[in-house]
Amino acid sequence: MKIIIVGTGYVGLPHAAVCAESGHEVHAYDIDDNRINAYKSGDRAQIEAHVNEPGLANAIQDTLDRYLFFSTEIEPIIEGVDVIFMCLNTPPNRDGSSNLSYLINASRDVGRALAKRQEKKRVVVVNKSTVPIGTARLVERILKEEGVENFGVASNPEFLAQGNAVEGSRRPDRVVVGADTPEDLELLRRVYNQFTNHVRIKYIETTPETSESIKYMANSLLLTYISYWNGVGARLAESYDNIRMEDLKRGVTADSRISTWGSYVSNGAGGSCFGKDIQSLMYQLNQAGQSTDLLNAVYNINEYQKSYLIDRAIYEGGFNFNQKKVAILGLAFKKRTNDMRDSAALNAVEALLGKGVSEIRAYDPLAVDTAKNHWFNPSKNHLFERITYHDSPREAIEGTDAVYISTDWEEFRGLSRTIETTVDPPYLVIDGRRMIPDYQSLVDRGFTYLPVGGPVKKLA
Ligand code: UGA
Repeated sequence: MKIIIVGTGYVGLPHAAVCAESGHEVHAYDIDDNRINAYKSGDRAQIEAHVNEPGLANAIQDTLDRYLFFSTEIEPIIEGVDVIFMCLNTPPNRDGSSNLSYLINASRDVGRALAKRQEKKRVVVVNKSTVPIGTARLVERILKEEGVENFGVASNPEFLAQGNAVEGSRRPDRVVVGADTPEDLELLRRVYNQFTNHVRIKYIETTPETSESIKYMANSLLLTYISYWNGVGARLAESYDNIRMEDLKRGVTADSRISTWGSYVSNGAGGSCFGKDIQSLMYQLNQAGQSTDLLNAVYNINEYQKSYLIDRAIYEGGFNFNQKKVAILGLAFKKRTNDMRDSAALNAVEALLGKGVSEIRAYDPLAVDTAKNHWFNPSKNHLFERITYHDSPREAIEGTDAVYISTDWEEFRGLSRTIETTVDPPYLVIDGRRMIPDYQSLVDRGFTYLPVGGPVKKLA
């Protein structure tokens, strides 16, 4: 199959590499020459500067110039194409709706190029990014307006989690394909031939609109699990003595009907997908005149969760942040990524600066550059000058009055020794990820321990 991937970010690039590994001829196209030059170089550091995913650089190096090609121009690669995957950003607008301008512009480019083909063989244009219900129809309209002949549109949402994109593409739980005609479904079966008769992988064929809905339902349900645990489980264990969070989790999720995923209580779920997708789903339901009470509660619980530990530190821990130094461990929205989009660390830093801290000493194994250059760039807000960056948890903690653990990086597990040997009580440990199960020794030495999903622990 000859495949074109339009857009080479977190969705498009891993998809391109894995399609190339299956032996298809894949042309990845992007209007950003910096990205394309980096990928074409095959150099790990240059690739990872744009998309940092385990196994991705190797997959690109293994297929580059044999099965996988990169281009900033679409016309020279359009002849003979069978399938075009649209992998564009669809950022949220203020009202929660999705901004489709990148997809619309790219669809026009694709349409113009397709209209000029010599051989008018059947081509399917597939939306892979998460797009509102009805977007396949929108792309269809654009392609018709551009004069494209003999084409179909389809929806084939991506279900990957960041940090697992390559492995997840090689061994997905399911592949969902929504198209209008048997001919187009057959073309996509040929793209995914390694998955169509797999014992473990569910290959689901349906309409474009059902396929678009599956992605929104799935992400919103995943966030519902997290908000259930954060908004109910954590609250219970914080309010009543002697509830053991880990046992609560084990006991509830022992029922095979109940997911264990999502039961990991935290300072809120971040990332580029959950918040954006649930807001978009609410917008779409509202547009149809439907109520969104459940989704609204799920979203609000998650947003509240991202800063409420700072409030608990004040009201339950009796801590005054004014002119204090606070270490923040973890800036990324989850471990194994440098991505800070919707990260709980953004809310924590904003809350801490708002409470008048004199310094925030930050550590993250991957996300410091992202933080410095983008999120906490002092040119955006002079208060970000109060943030300093450090090379280890110990260095970040030195000289501080409190520490806030924001990301679930493995290296933060069992930090009690580092804390005990670096700072003296009175000292507050705020644990947004329950990374310190052996907190008792800290408490015995006079430290205050405030975890998500448990009451404040301090010497009586
Ligand atoms: C999410 C979904 O998990 C993917 O299935 C989906 O394809 C993807 O969005 C997408 O739409 O592209 P991702 O955003 O990479 O993937 O991150 P997750 O691993 O799901 O984690 C999201 C957030 O939830 C993180 O902040 C994580 O720490 C948090 N989380 C996760 C919890 O707080 N508790 C949990 O039990 C699990």
